[in-house]
Amino acid sequence: MPPSLRARCRYLAAIETSCDETSFSVLECDFSNLGEADATADLAGSTPATGLPALALPHRVRVLAHLVHSQGSLHEPFGGVVPEVAARDHLAHLPALAREGLRRAGLRAADCGAIAVTAGPGLIGAVMVGYLFAQGFAEANGIPCLAVNHVDAHLAPASLIPRFDPSQDCGTWLSLRKPAFPRLSLTVSGGHCLMAFWPEWGQQILLGTTLDDACGEAFDKVAKLLGLGYPGGPLLEAQARLGDTGRFAFPVPLSTGTARTRQHAVCPLPFSFSGLKTAALRATQACRASQGEQLGQKDIADIAACFQDAATHHLCDRITKALELCATHPNLAPVAEIVVAGGVAANGAFRAKLAKATNVPLFFAPLSLCGDNATMIALQALLQANDGRHIMPFSRYDFAPTLTGHFA
Ligand code: KG4
Ligand code: ZN
Repeated sequence: MPPSLRARCRYLAAIETSCDETSFSVLECDFSNLGEADATADLAGSTPATGLPALALPHRVRVLAHLVHSQGSLHEPFGGVVPEVAARDHLAHLPALAREGLRRAGLRAADCGAIAVTAGPGLIGAVMVGYLFAQGFAEANGIPCLAVNHVDAHLAPASLIPRFDPSQDCGTWLSLRKPAFPRLSLTVSGGHCLMAFWPEWGQQILLGTTLDDACGEAFDKVAKLLGLGYPGGPLLEAQARLGDTGRFAFPVPLSTGTARTRQHAVCPLPFSFSGLKTAALRATQACRASQGEQLGQKDIADIAACFQDAATHHLCDRITKALELCATHPNLAPVAEIVVAGGVAANGAFRAKLAKATNVPLFFAPLSLCGDNATMIALQALLQANDGRHIMPFSRYDFAPTLTGHFA
């Protein structure tokens, strides 16, 4: 963040349009914890140990507006997001959403000190709608446009404000948490499944990514197979609550055997969900073969329960293995906390299972901030501004460095 910006950045607007949610938020930031010297030291100051820029955050924020327009019903007939439809719907809704957000915040556009926006990764047409709107907003008001990495942004709420319920907390001051390092992060969304070790702010070492589907994508595909609609994750979770996890033997991915792929050399703890999709398909075929074309309600619930049980078991298994790896690997270190975010982090069964599986302090993104939203983009802008990165619109994620060499 340019030094002068923080002084002006009492009100920070933010936009998210990377996939099928159009979202606009306004944050009020209280930097009164930082003295005059700090106020000009954002980019110049650095921590003695690493030379990384010092992290200069407000000590508390208020979410003045948090608006999310979901396109779920628009994409439902197609069983997944149609990029062209998504981009057009963002165009149709973003201007009114921004006006309404400012109205709720009690502000004019010119009152905002900066605007943050998702620059990627995402559906490039959808990203461009939000990015260009934000550029226009910034130009018209003479304020900076802060381009944010969407995947990193998913972790920002878990890092800073693990509790936030928009129906109660909009307009109330939220103290920012001070995250502990080293830490482990897991981002599980519809497009990504990434586990990383963070020695400190601004540094990530990738420990695992998916060999095939992202976890949320697998939830969506199995939900589609079961005829549950889109987005499938929450619908499948609701069915799983009614089902029997003992009915089908779904294999927990990558839990047996010692085969190491090229991927293992780069990421020691990869994820995989394609085998679980196949297991779900086989289970539906077996049910159909025994009782006719239609799946019964009990079949749907049981298959959902078995899939969710194995998928969440896999996520927990990767995390517990990562904790062991961090504690023993010479280039890593025991972790002080775990942060978990992304759409799948909203899954109640996963939250409960992971809480049981580890004693390490665990921070999930608040439920309302697990899926795509602009509040996480604003929070990430506060974090990202500290390392002075500027990002151009992009569709793919620039992965963190890996432990290449140590696992070859
Ligand atoms: O983070 P997100 O909103 O968008 C991306 O950046 O991808 O994640 C959306 C994904 C979808 O695949 C959705 O089905 C999944 O998160 N999801 C869930 C749940 N809620 C959303 N998966 C499992 N259980 C849930 N409760
Ligand atoms: Zn997302």
